[in-house]
Parts: sequence; structure tokens; C-alpha cells
Amino acid sequence: MISRISLYIVAASVFSALTLPVTVLANQSDCVSSYNSKTDYFPDKVQAKYNSGFDITYKNNAKYIRNNISGETYVVYQCGTPVPDDANPTPANSLQVGDWTKVMAVPGSKVVLDSAPASAIVELLSMQDTVAATYKYFAITSACMQKDIASLPRVEQNFGTPDSRRRRRSAGTSSSGSLVRRVSYDITKDGLQWTFTTYGMSDPHSIAVNPESAKDMLGKAEWIKFVAAFYNKEAEANKLFDQIEASYNSAKGSATKGSKTVGIARYNKVANGTVTGWSIDQLQPWLVQGIEDAGMKAYSGDSASFKNVDDFYTAVKDWDVLIDNSIEPLSHGGATIPQWNNLLDGYKFDSDKSYKSLPFLSSNAIYRSDLISSYDNATDYNEHLQIQPDVLLQDLIKISKASSGAKDTTWYRNMPAQESVKWVSANDCKN
Ligand SMILES: *[C@@H]1O[C@H](CO)[C@@H](O)[C@H](O)[C@H]1NC(C)=O
Ligand SMILES: *[C@@H]1O[C@H](CO)[C@@H](O)[C@H](O)[C@H]1NC(C)=O
Ligand SMILES: *[C@@H]1O[C@H](CO)[C@@H](O)[C@H](O)[C@H]1NC(C)=O
Ligand SMILES: *[C@@H]1O[C@H](CO)[C@@H](O)[C@H](O)[C@H]1NC(C)=O
Repeated sequence: MISRISLYIVAASVFSALTLPVTVLANQSDCVSSYNSKTDYFPDKVQAKYNSGFDITYKNNAKYIRNNISGETYVVYQCGTPVPDDANPTPANSLQVGDWTKVMAVPGSKVVLDSAPASAIVELLSMQDTVAATYKYFAITSACMQKDIASLPRVEQNFGTPDSRRRRRSAGTSSSGSLVRRVSYDITKDGLQWTFTTYGMSDPHSIAVNPESAKDMLGKAEWIKFVAAFYNKEAEANKLFDQIEASYNSAKGSATKGSKTVGIARYNKVANGTVTGWSIDQLQPWLVQGIEDAGMKAYSGDSASFKNVDDFYTAVKDWDVLIDNSIEPLSHGGATIPQWNNLLDGYKFDSDKSYKSLPFLSSNAIYRSDLISSYDNATDYNEHLQIQPDVLLQDLIKISKASSGAKDTTWYRNMPAQESVKWVSANDCKN
């Protein structure tokens, strides 16, 4: 019953040298028709070098992939070869929450998307043709992916089943008698293989893709390798990763040490339009690293909430850059992206005069990460940024160097400059 949302650190994986392959196959995209137990079916391998949160071990026809963030293990084997003896999958009807072991055949050819970063990776690997369905509420910014998925079926999630409820009750192990929520994707139709998703799911056919929880900047890009392993696209992934790593290190080398402090804040607004307070958010470790690699300092105070706006101003008085995380709730439900007038009102910059000395205001350095967004409010920051930390670092360096509000950033929108959101729709796809 303990729902497990874990943010684990992963130790660098140790790649074990295996017995050398008997045969090296030129092509792994098809199912194998004659199996040889001594063959190394995956001559191209990936290995995570940074704090990504996953690791992969290869053994002949199998890959043992551990996602330490979702707490899941995937044993994948080459299509047409036997399921590995030691696979030991969690039974499909298990009520276990977390720690599932899932067994599946690769390569992917009919997959479901419910992960924005996985979608970005699938595009980078040119595997769009393998996407056969998406989750009902899945939203992305990429114009061509929007176009690609528009005509595809949408799948539902199941929240528990009558069967699992009965089982749970009769098992009588729960003192409270509460039900275990068994969330799963309904992908039983049309030969769909698995869903790329964000969270660990209690089903045998979802794969969590978690670059947002990597501990460092390049660890985010490592997830290209993770997704590629389900397509036997290791060689392509290594090439893409090496380019991102080189580009990251080159940007880092061009950064100059400055003295700016960066923090993340938001106003809290309820649906009737009332601002109920202000918050300072904790920066994720990868963003702290990115800010430092760009030559700035990350605000190191704890997350905090304020009821009084002057207390909030006092807490952020040394910030040179404010990254805004607010949302604008809509009275009919849902939320939308704030504009500059929303921020003026939300932070009381229009009514309260004590704001004037705040450094981020006098230097026009208030940003939001939603410069590229879709009409259904997906932002590209949650999609491509998650695997392209080199481009993010370039944005942060522009922010570090700007004397009055950076422009020409890829994902950060300069709010005082009232920079317009670049709204993306399927019509923007040029292919
Ligand atoms: C996974 O996370 C746990 C808990 O943080 C840690 O003890 C363990 O070493 C991690 N495993 C790997 C392979 O990194
Ligand atoms: C590899 O697989 C592709 C796609 O199925 C096929 O077109 C190609 O002929 C194969 N190449 C080799 C060397 O087997
Ligand atoms: C709006 O909601 C807040 C919090 O739920 C409540 O305190 C306030 O009275 C409401 N204001 C109006 C005008 O309805
Ligand atoms: C997205 O934003 C629009 C307004 O720009 C709004 O009408 C819609 O409800 C929002 N969608 C969600 C899911 O919040």
C-alpha cells in the first residue's frame, strides 16, 4: 500500500566484460529465426557514464535494464530467442506496488507513448514509425509528432479492476481494508508491445523514462541510451550522446564565472483568482549543476512559503535571476501559461512599491521555461530539454552574460520583455 515515488541516486554502472561473441550479427531489426545460445545478439552496447538513474547489463540474447528511479527492472530479450531462464517476471495480476520486474521482447515496433522525453528520443532515433498509439491525455510540443499521433488510437488507463479488489479484500492482509490502486495501461489490443511512461506502473508492459530525475546534466541525455536499448539502437544512441556531451563540454568551457544568483519562485493562485501566497521552490540537482556550469550561483535556501508578500520580497532580495514556476488556474478547471500581466498581479509588482530594489526586476531577469509550447499547454522544456542539456546550458550561459534580460534563448521566455510564446501545432510540421 505504500505508493512508491522514489528519487534514487544511481551509482555508475559497471560494465562487465562478457565472453566474446561467437557470431556478430549485422542487423538486429528483425526477429531471429535460428537461435544460438552462444551468440552475442547485441554487439552494440550502451553504458551510463553519469548519474542518470539507470544501468544496463548485457548477456547474449538478453539485456537487464534497471531503472533505479521508478524502481523497475526490465529483462528484455531479442525477438525470436527464448525468454532468459533467470527472468523471473512479476506476475501480471500481482498487487505489488513498485519493484516490478517486466519481461519483453525487443526491438520495439508497436509502442505506446505517454512520456514527452521518450517522444523526443524516439524522434532523435528516427523511430517515429514504431509509435502505434498514445495515452488518452498525452500532449507534446513537437510539431511533427503532433501530426504523427493525431490519427493514432488513444489508450486508457485502468485504475484497479474488480478482480484485484476482490483479491485484495479476501487476502485480508490490509488492516484498513483500503483498496490497492492497480494502475495499468489498457494496451491489450492490436499487438501493442509496451507504453513509454513517466511513473512505475503496476502492469507488465510499461517502461518508465526518467531523465527529469537524473542527478546531473549529462545524466539526463543518457536516457537516449535507455530508450535506444528497447530498439537495439545502441550504436545510434552512443553517437547522439557523444555529440551532446561534446557540445555540453564546449559550452561549459566558454562560460565565464559571474556573480549572479538564480532562484525559482511562484505565486499560488486558486481558481477564483485569489493569490493565496508565494513560494520558493527547491532547485533540482541537475539544474544546480547547470547554473554553476554557466558561471552563476544557485539559490541554496530551502523551499519556503509566504503569506505576506513583503516577507517573500525579503527572502528573494539577493536574486539576480528569478525563474517563475507559477500556473494560472482557470475557473472552469485546467490551467494556462501566465503572461507578464499575470506575474505583475501575482507577485504584486503592480501594487506594492517595496519590490523596486529587487535585482531581478531592475535587470529584467524574470524567465519562464515555456517559450516553446503547444496549444494544449505541453511545453518543450519537459520534452526536448530533458535530453538536450547542452542546449539548456547554452540558454543558462546567455542568461548569465546578459546585462539586461537575455533574449535568443531556446526555452527560457523573458517575461518583462513580454516575449511571446512560440505556440506549436501540427501545422508547423514541414515534413
Ligand atoms: C539505487 O538506489 C538506491 C537507493 O538510493 C541505492 O542504494 C542503490 O545503490 C542504487 N542502485 C544503483 C544501481 O545505483
Ligand atoms: C536489416 O533489416 C532491415 C529491416 O528489416 C532489412 O531491410 C535489411 O535488409 C537487413 N539487413 C541485413 C544485412 O540483414
Ligand atoms: C476564493 O477562494 C479563496 C480560497 O479558497 C477564499 O478564501 C476566497 O474567499 C475566495 N474569494 C472569492 C472572491 O470567492
Ligand atoms: C490550456 O490552456 C488553455 C488556455 O490557453 C485552456 O483553455 C485549457 O483549459 C488548458 N488546458 C489544460 C489541460 O489545462
